[in-house]
Amino acid sequence: MSIVDVQNTPDHTEAGEVPPWWRQAAVYQIYPRSFADANGDGLGDIPGIISKADYLGGLGIDAVWLSPFYPSALADGGYDVADYRDVDPRLGTLADFDDLVDALHSRGIRVVVDIVPNHSSDQHAWFQEALAAGRGSVARERYIFREGTGPDGSQPPTDWDSTFGGPAWERVEDGQWYLHNFAIEQPDLNWSNPEVRADFVTTLRFWSDRGVDGFRIDVAHMLTKDLTEPLPSQAALDAMPRDGQHPMVDRDDVHEVYAEWRKVFNSYDPPRTAVAEAWVDKGRVPLYAHPESLGQAFNFDLLQADFAADQFLSVVTANLELAAASGSSSTWVLSNHDVVRHATRYGLAHPERDAEGRPTVKHGLEWLRSGGASSGIDREVGARRALAATLFMLGLPGSSYLYQGEELGLHEVAEISDAERQDPTFFRSEGEDLGRDGCRVPLPWHTDGPAFGFGGGGSHLPQPPWFADYAMSGQQGDPASSLSVYRRALELRRALQTEESLEWIATGRADVLRYRRPNGWEVVTNFGSTPFALDRDDSQVFSAEPLEGALPGESTVWFAPDDDR
Ligand code: GLC
Repeated sequence: MSIVDVQNTPDHTEAGEVPPWWRQAAVYQIYPRSFADANGDGLGDIPGIISKADYLGGLGIDAVWLSPFYPSALADGGYDVADYRDVDPRLGTLADFDDLVDALHSRGIRVVVDIVPNHSSDQHAWFQEALAAGRGSVARERYIFREGTGPDGSQPPTDWDSTFGGPAWERVEDGQWYLHNFAIEQPDLNWSNPEVRADFVTTLRFWSDRGVDGFRIDVAHMLTKDLTEPLPSQAALDAMPRDGQHPMVDRDDVHEVYAEWRKVFNSYDPPRTAVAEAWVDKGRVPLYAHPESLGQAFNFDLLQADFAADQFLSVVTANLELAAASGSSSTWVLSNHDVVRHATRYGLAHPERDAEGRPTVKHGLEWLRSGGASSGIDREVGARRALAATLFMLGLPGSSYLYQGEELGLHEVAEISDAERQDPTFFRSEGEDLGRDGCRVPLPWHTDGPAFGFGGGGSHLPQPPWFADYAMSGQQGDPASSLSVYRRALELRRALQTEESLEWIATGRADVLRYRRPNGWEVVTNFGSTPFALDRDDSQVFSAEPLEGALPGESTVWFAPDDDR
């Protein structure tokens, strides 16, 4: 394992200029409660992550993004934050957090933390104060409280739906209602209130001062709202254009918040970074990725595409253009804590589709409902395509965001009973939506032993017996394992990621894509099932070994620059 100090990461540019690290980083997302459990209580924790620092160092990633580890009643997997400037006592202490930052920095890995500004937890001191202080109080002004409608105010202020299903308003004891765009336990903060704005600046400084390198901004497009009375109906909201003036989402004025944050980020050396989780119309993504705003934004197009050459080609082309429009780099995501793992998506017999026949974010619902019926999935096909897609992605210009466990080729877990489910989307949709627990099951580190080595005790979500086949220890020494392919690609990736562009090379086949980076690295992906004859035999990494000079179906190969070409 190479130990590289983050401040001294080598310069990759030929021009001698050091590009900011985040532009083409491989960022590994950790969902802390499901990564590694040091104290054996069934819940992953910060000391658990520290215990895996060598593993992370050996992966070849540039940064770790930590999903929320803050005090939380876990109404939404930690995205209900009770205190933005502390560590959940079940996960450790602030001192443990500092040790984690040191452990990662000393291995050349930056640290990105999740900031959840749209809503707090209902357990947050501010919300508790608001409940106690009553109507008209300064404390209620930090949230969005309104009187109800109907003769006795017993009806909600509007008919708005929450993102997780069910109404977006909840009534409190004295009869007022508060807005929650997500779970009931996640009251929306009032971003028109300068005190709310100031408090988040304090939070950003708090973590930046502790050495955090960047921030992932949760639902970055929903903070500011125009709540001028009379409030529109849900139907009226749905019919309004999303042009920056919509009362609830993607408002132009949210960038005033981020302009202020940008000043905070830039007051540090090196400047702190941010990436927006913003589900907005494509043309508006550059506003978030702009250097005066958050600086980078997620692009979720690959996780909504089939494993198909035409779809991958158009996603990449469109997103490289968008990145150029803001001056940021593009981001690529195949899996995260909110979606069915890509190994599973690609193996599903019947992925869900929208009215136009495109895959939806809800892939796998039917299969999840079946409890994981083997007739609904071909796990091998899924795993093969997933690895091919990952290698295709890792070679692209821009940052790749990886989700814990995908390096093991891990599949979604469907074998979770209703009683074991945790995701509020399951409860709020009354079981219509099975939620996101299946990608949040604690990782298998060992092929046997308690909780497959996740910790000494249990596991807060059930691990199925087949997790043994994906355990990290079982893949370590096998050069053909998913883990070994990830490691090799991530190691090579550092040489590949120089100038941020690519050139498509004609392949003569609609189901084969080939691109070349300006430094000569080449990536070829065969999305079809017929082998593709290769004109070179000097591959550096492959998702499936080339056979007799041909790239097998559903596989990717990388070639290093060849000076004679
Ligand atoms: C984001 C998170 C998701 C969370 C939601 C509400 O979409 O990724 O996990 O439930 O925001 O905070």
